[in-house]
Amino acid sequence: MTRWEELAGSATGGTLYGIGVGPGDVRYLTLRAAGLVRSVDVVAFFAKRGRQGNARSIVTPLLEAGRRELRLEYPVTDEIPATHPDYHSQIGAFYRQAADSLSELLRQGRSVGLLSEGDPFFYGSFMHMWRRLAKTFPVEVVPGVTGMSGCWTRANTPITWGDDALVVLPGTLDEGKLVERLRLADAAVIMKVGRNLGKVRRAVETAGLLSRALYVERGTMPGERVVPLASCGDPEGAYFAMILIPGQGRAI
Ligand SMILES: C[S@@+](CC[C@H](N)C(=O)[O-])C[C@H]1O[C@@H](n2cnc3c(N)ncnc32)[C@H](O)[C@@H]1O
Repeated sequence: MTRWEELAGSATGGTLYGIGVGPGDVRYLTLRAAGLVRSVDVVAFFAKRGRQGNARSIVTPLLEAGRRELRLEYPVTDEIPATHPDYHSQIGAFYRQAADSLSELLRQGRSVGLLSEGDPFFYGSFMHMWRRLAKTFPVEVVPGVTGMSGCWTRANTPITWGDDALVVLPGTLDEGKLVERLRLADAAVIMKVGRNLGKVRRAVETAGLLSRALYVERGTMPGERVVPLASCGDPEGAYFAMILIPGQGRAI
């Protein structure tokens, strides 16, 4: 065993691990996350239909051939709005089935690592499994570098200074709510931009923040793009995109 494998520790049978795999670049995994990705009996991950799954792609360099994997494929993602009753029933049934598949492996005494982009407890799908399984099985959550940390690092911009209050908003909020919350913020991060880009851009402009806003797509991943929001003319954003509005507080 190498020194780093010893420090990372290994996986225990019958335990579910929520593994934060960071913002995209495999080098930003924690020691514990990398160790578990290499040692769990089963590597599980969520994926959109027809896609490899972003968290799974991030750890590809760490996976040797022949590892046992469990792909949990969403029946829908952004084809139906999250407020639609069909979305709730389909996603609810999917999460129940996914939790059943994980339970079966855990009951067999396998260690299962469920990959999560960024940090598992920060808007992570892992939380839906944690909610269903943590009372029955041992669960360890491994924190990860969040997508937003990766994005402001790659945009080369500090996000908060001194007394700045940072507000994190999902781009799925309605325009009025976005404006209201942005007006209270010294610094802001707007996640889940995707199809909401037009609405988000209008809200940022109405709040008087457009000149400071950056659009970051696929931060730390292949195809990364960082541009001022004012000059990003895209009608829609990428799924992996966010808006950063850096604070201007006390820089001494
Ligand atoms: C379901 S949330 C998952 C957040 C994740 N658990 C984290 O800790 O960052 C997905 C949203 O995170 C944002 N995101 C995560 N990683 C990103 C990255 N590398 N570049 C740009 N946006 C990212 C995007 O706004 C995306 O729509």
